[in-house]
Amino acid sequence: MALNFVVINETPGSEDILRKPAKKVTFPLSPEILDLIETMKTKVIEEEGVGLAASQVGYHLQLLIYHVPPDVLPMRKDAAEVVPLSVLLNGSYTPIPEEGMFSDWEGCFSVNGTIGKVPRYNCIAYEGQNIDGSSVKGIARGFLARVLQHEIDHTQGILFIDRLTPDCLQGPSEEMMKIRRQELEGGFPPSRE
Ligand code: NI
Repeated sequence: MALNFVVINETPGSEDILRKPAKKVTFPLSPEILDLIETMKTKVIEEEGVGLAASQVGYHLQLLIYHVPPDVLPMRKDAAEVVPLSVLLNGSYTPIPEEGMFSDWEGCFSVNGTIGKVPRYNCIAYEGQNIDGSSVKGIARGFLARVLQHEIDHTQGILFIDRLTPDCLQGPSEEMMKIRRQELEGGFPPSRE
């Protein structure tokens, strides 16, 4: 199974898959879906990403994978701990607005050439299902909450650029990376999701 990224305004039909809510996954998972999950895991590691939704590789399903690898911790002040590669099916989240919002750099495999500082909730309650159909619920904070918001948004047809308001720092990746480097000594790259 070879997976190619669906890129907004570039891949034919990209609006239909990236800007519309995906279908719920049903259980038990088919061998094809299990294979898809394994291939997505390989791809997100190869591409050095922190998350990937199935719609980004052409499968319009509420399926996403995410992790916080060890090398991210020193680069994100709100990344508290390593999170192993995980799968979330039929995921949703509820913001906990009392804990505030934080804007930080994001990029996306489905958006070429643009990165931006996206306002996200610091804390969310999320839920969904595991690969065996059992339910999963949790509270996520900081960088993990950002990753989950970005990926769950994908399953609902929302891209990070849709969360940017005109006052958000945003623009061509090359130009923005210069600002990012100035902001933080050593230059922290945007998350790739
Ligand atoms: Ni993305």
